[in-house]
Amino acid sequence: MILSGKEPAEKILEKCRNTAKKLNIKPVLAVVLVGDDPASHIYVNKKKKTAEKYGVETRVHIMPENTPEPELLKLVEKLNKDNTIDGFIVQLPLPRHINQNKVIEAIDPKKDVDGFHPINIGKVFLDIIDEKTFIPATPYGIIELLNYYSVPIEGKKAVVIGRSTIVGKPVAALLLNKNATVTICHSRTKNLKKQIKDADIVVVAVGKPEMINGSMVKKGSYIIDAGTSRIEGKIVGDVNFESVKLKGAHCTPNPGGVGPMTIAMLLKNTFKAAEIRGLQ
Ligand SMILES: NC(=O)c1ccc[n+]([C@@H]2O[C@H](COP(=O)([O-])OP(=O)(O)OC[C@H]3O[C@@H](n4cnc5c(N)ncnc54)[C@H](OP(=O)(O)O)[C@@H]3O)[C@@H](O)[C@H]2O)c1
Repeated sequence: MILSGKEPAEKILEKCRNTAKKLNIKPVLAVVLVGDDPASHIYVNKKKKTAEKYGVETRVHIMPENTPEPELLKLVEKLNKDNTIDGFIVQLPLPRHINQNKVIEAIDPKKDVDGFHPINIGKVFLDIIDEKTFIPATPYGIIELLNYYSVPIEGKKAVVIGRSTIVGKPVAALLLNKNATVTICHSRTKNLKKQIKDADIVVVAVGKPEMINGSMVKKGSYIIDAGTSRIEGKIVGDVNFESVKLKGAHCTPNPGGVGPMTIAMLLKNTFKAAEIRGLQ
């Protein structure tokens, strides 16, 4: 089975648009982009385009690469207080001279639609996700993708490769919350191949082109490829899609798998923020 992200992403966003229409709300998302990283500019444009398609207004704030940290923190504070926006994100990665954690912690958790604030991440890890929690978009998208294709999770062995705070760790927590037996692997893991071979579900978020191929996976396993590298302008994932498919594993295409789900969940979080604000 091909675990395409396009159809579930469209369904999720159509449902959000219909609910917003009924409630007469028009969500507003602000996006802060610092610097000239070409990949970040592409991601922001994609987010903006999809947002507009589904009735979410976007306001993009572009700041130069050499923006001093206090200036970015000032904008974050301004967006926290701005009653005309429902949520905002600061596109990562930030230039090296800016402390990423400091910026994330400055975002009001109620407007943190990327779900990176320690309060939102903490709720995911404590498994106390309530209606006001924003789950980080990529991990949330991966779980919704597994749900959409009715992939059994409970009691299964899930291997997550990559331990970043934006993908690896939270997706591992979400799988654990769903009663998978989870192993987190990283650059220092010994015998990664054996871990992958034994896994029913593999989530890979490393950024190493086609590091996983068919000879490494179990027949019938589910392989979720979050990795994105650019080779000669083309997106390449962490998985060799054709070879794992030949092996009889179910795999996300890349592009067209985790990417559209990530954008859908960011926007779903924005719709939710607008709905909560509408109720206040
Ligand atoms: N599709 C999307 O919407 C989306 C969203 C976010 C990220 N991504 C992509 O996902 C990938 C990961 O992003 P990230 O922000 O999580 O990256 P990151 O912070 O760079 O983390 C990469 C992780 O991979 C591990 N790693 C590196 N080499 C490895 C190896 N040979 N074997 C096993 N593990 C290895 C690292 O281990 P250590 O911790 O030991 O260094 C680290 O934990 C990137 O390609 C990024 O572009 C895609």
